[in-house]
Amino acid sequence: MRDIILAGNWKMHKTIEESKEIALCLKEKFTELPLNVILFPPFTALYSISELLKGSNISVGGQNVYFEEKGAFTGEISPVMLKEAGAKYVIAGHSERRNIFNETDELIKKKICSAVENGMDVIFCVGEKLEEREAGRTEEVISKEIRIALDGIPREVLDHIIIAYEPVWAIGTGVAASPDEAAAIHKFIRSILDDMFVRGAGANMSILYGGSIKPENFIEFAILDEIDGGLVGGASLKCEDFYDIGKILVECKKL
Ligand code: 13P
Repeated sequence: MRDIILAGNWKMHKTIEESKEIALCLKEKFTELPLNVILFPPFTALYSISELLKGSNISVGGQNVYFEEKGAFTGEISPVMLKEAGAKYVIAGHSERRNIFNETDELIKKKICSAVENGMDVIFCVGEKLEEREAGRTEEVISKEIRIALDGIPREVLDHIIIAYEPVWAIGTGVAASPDEAAAIHKFIRSILDDMFVRGAGANMSILYGGSIKPENFIEFAILDEIDGGLVGGASLKCEDFYDIGKILVECKKL
């Protein structure tokens, strides 16, 4: 059985006070839902939010991590520090990190391994840009991202990874992928994992869809077996919307 997960990536939004406000609202609402929920607040709010959510079914994670545990890396955050602040998860490979901050597949691999070695699970994001999609290169791009970042990693590390398929053109645009297309990519991702590891590795991997998820469109994704949940940006910034997405997931997956 794969884990069904709802994750909210707040990106560079919300002050500490604003983060606390929405976290309190979510804590109250989500107690009635049997769902694994993860929030990725900005670093400044991570500790206070993790304290505030103690005893709830909502975990917190870091939106980014560096692979070294300490040292002269001005502006970076280490896995040890994240964990101390309450993070149970880390996002690696988000397209904004890849495209704005030039993160490579090789760097992403180091981040994944370091986070897992330090006791956290990773949401590893992959996805194609619009021009890559239009050139018919979607599968090639995703295959490369996965094959480099997960090359040679031990099976026990793989067990701590969740993959998020986030087509770059669908992020923050209001234009989500078609649910069937997303499901087909999820299936493709599973086939890559089977090829890289052992048969069955793909079937065991939780794969989330991300990109313009809203309460209005999420049911179409959540009803598909290939889709094990969502990584939500904009709609996770509103308590009601994120909760409505959670309710849809619980209903569709019969949790
Ligand atoms: P949106 O839901 O705002 O499109 O963002 C998706 C995303 O990038 C989550 O990591």
